[in-house]
Amino acid sequence: MRIIAATKNAGKIREFEKIFSGLGFEIISQAEAGIDVDVEEIGDTFAKNALIKARAVAMLSDEYVLADDSGLCVDALDGRPGVRSARYAGEGASDSEKIAKLLGELEGETNRKAKFVANIAFIFPDGRELITQGEVYGRILDKPRGENGFGYDPVFYSDELEKTFAEASSDEKNRVSHRGRALAALYDMIK
Ligand code: IMP
Repeated sequence: MRIIAATKNAGKIREFEKIFSGLGFEIISQAEAGIDVDVEEIGDTFAKNALIKARAVAMLSDEYVLADDSGLCVDALDGRPGVRSARYAGEGASDSEKIAKLLGELEGETNRKAKFVANIAFIFPDGRELITQGEVYGRILDKPRGENGFGYDPVFYSDELEKTFAEASSDEKNRVSHRGRALAALYDMIK
């Protein structure tokens, strides 16, 4: 079964492939499927944005479509950057600029609790829709650690792994991550 991943983020596509490869699903990117749409993530929740992205691609294809929307929610920032995690430091800002902004906002803050949240939307060729959610808890360090992953991984210390997501291997991260959990829930539903 082929699934089109409605994302241009290469880091996420690698995670989807890794999780689905052993399960008989082939993931192809939106670009590989020849679909070029750019949607505005105007939803105020991860679930709404995941559906917006998946529906935009599903309208242009007859295949299974999967999209996720995810982000980092920091307790001391009342859940920010949240749905604005990708654009937190402005449109086109690099991962290190986003991390620098986050660490700046948290300077002197002792409550470092945070979670990553992901919602996955899955659309069948006949139009049926599924949505799942995954969360992972941790805290924001005051300095980046590790080289793996993407986004906020170097400053997110996972309570379960006892290291940052950027210090974890991709298998370790997938086992506990918000996206890994949302995908595992999706797999159970599809089965
Ligand atoms: P979107 O889901 O593509 O709208 O963007 C989510 C943003 O949240 C990404 O650009 C990252 O900055 C951040 N993010 C989501 N998941 C992860 C993760 O697993 N590690 C690090 N950052 C993440």
